[in-house]
Amino acid sequence: MTQLDDRPTETPAGTGSPTTFSVPTGGETVRANDRDHVFHAWGLVGADTVSVASAQGSRFWDTEGKEYLDFSSQLCNVNIGHQHPRLVAAVQEQAARLTTLGPAFSLDVRSEAARLIAERAPGDLDMVFFTTGGAEANENAIRMARVHTGRHKVMAAYRSYHGGTAGAMAVTGEPRRWATEPGMPGVVRFWGPYPYRSAFHSSSAVQECERALQHLRDTIMVEGPGSVAAIILETVVGTNGILVPPDGYLAGVRAICDAYGIVMISDEVMAGFGRCGEWFAVDHWGVTPDLICFAKGVNSGYVPLGGIVISAAIADTFRTRPFTGGLTYSGHPLACASAVASIQIYEDEGVIEHARHLGTDVIGPGLEQLMERHRSVGEVRGLGAFWALELVRDRATREPLVPYNAAGPDNAPMAAFTTACKERGLWPFVHFNTTHVVPPCTTSDDDVREGLAILDEALTVADGYYTG
Ligand SMILES: Cc1ncc(COP(=O)(O)O)c(C=O)c1O
Repeated sequence: MTQLDDRPTETPAGTGSPTTFSVPTGGETVRANDRDHVFHAWGLVGADTVSVASAQGSRFWDTEGKEYLDFSSQLCNVNIGHQHPRLVAAVQEQAARLTTLGPAFSLDVRSEAARLIAERAPGDLDMVFFTTGGAEANENAIRMARVHTGRHKVMAAYRSYHGGTAGAMAVTGEPRRWATEPGMPGVVRFWGPYPYRSAFHSSSAVQECERALQHLRDTIMVEGPGSVAAIILETVVGTNGILVPPDGYLAGVRAICDAYGIVMISDEVMAGFGRCGEWFAVDHWGVTPDLICFAKGVNSGYVPLGGIVISAAIADTFRTRPFTGGLTYSGHPLACASAVASIQIYEDEGVIEHARHLGTDVIGPGLEQLMERHRSVGEVRGLGAFWALELVRDRATREPLVPYNAAGPDNAPMAAFTTACKERGLWPFVHFNTTHVVPPCTTSDDDVREGLAILDEALTVADGYYTG
């Protein structure tokens, strides 16, 4: 496999002032304006930020010139790396051709983006509804499932994140949901498989799979199968720990959905488009859901885009009654052009194959070595370019390095680990007691090894909190 990310990194793109509009570029001014005027997602008002000047491939640079290796792909979305010249050109070219258009028209880049996505989706998932991100994709998928089945309940896993809008938050299981409660009625939560911290006292992945499926069946039984419209699941749970389902679990969920006429919604906002070394993560297990929600990797976030790939049966429901959902920017020309270019880049540069190779040959074995060297690593798991190290205080008891949802002093060990990474030029993706290893799928083997070497040093800091 060739090294995909061999474009020069010495010259950060994007530096210098634009010529057609003016913007202050000095770090002090950027940070001051940010502090005073930008109300950040998930953050504290007025918190300090790193001001970024430029990015290229798997790296970005702050306004003081400090370089970071991006082991987070930002929010696990920049799958083809920063500033890919072909993707940048595609957006520029489409801006010159036609920048904006209402959603009701047909347009070459919109039709082609939908065709290319549908062609890669499994089974008869042949129609695409475009949104501007992942939360809206999940919202609309739930709406489609409810209308299609005429039922109202939606089942969702505790260890999940499905997005920041009201409905997506309501099906989210993790603590970001708490502030929006009481949420949408009709959400029923269940435990998904997680062999390392089994909710079912399982002692093997096989047992975990069987018990998690039985728990799902039992929950449906007491909720009333005739009231359940959909089960929404991240194919591989992302932010909440890269939980790869045991073999057989997704096929089991598919069988349960078939038995009760429930719509299976696979949230692949994070896991799809190459992240798991497949076009869609479900391909890894050969399972065909009824709806697949995507965003992030579809165009690496160069322009906001998400969507749903829809089965023939569900699409047919809306041939005689209009779908009551839409967005001004559904199928935005710039976003669709970037999706077309992105998919062509995936094909031409072997991005999916490279992600698979990274998982099998570089990240997976590299993380196993880190686990041998650092007692604070409790478990390594993942596939493709989608991995996590779960950090613990004690391997025997599996006590997490920090408590669930820790903040402030309780979170000190993970904060110290994060700082150690950043000081050494690695931008990690940290959540609770896990650090994710999710670099762009185009990252070269050497760059991944460089990042793993930094993790090796930073894990020494985590080891300092080990009490086992
Ligand atoms: C699995 C999953 N679903 C949905 C979302 C929400 O996507 P967006 O932030 O684009 O709305 C995310 C975002 O991280 C995600 O990881």
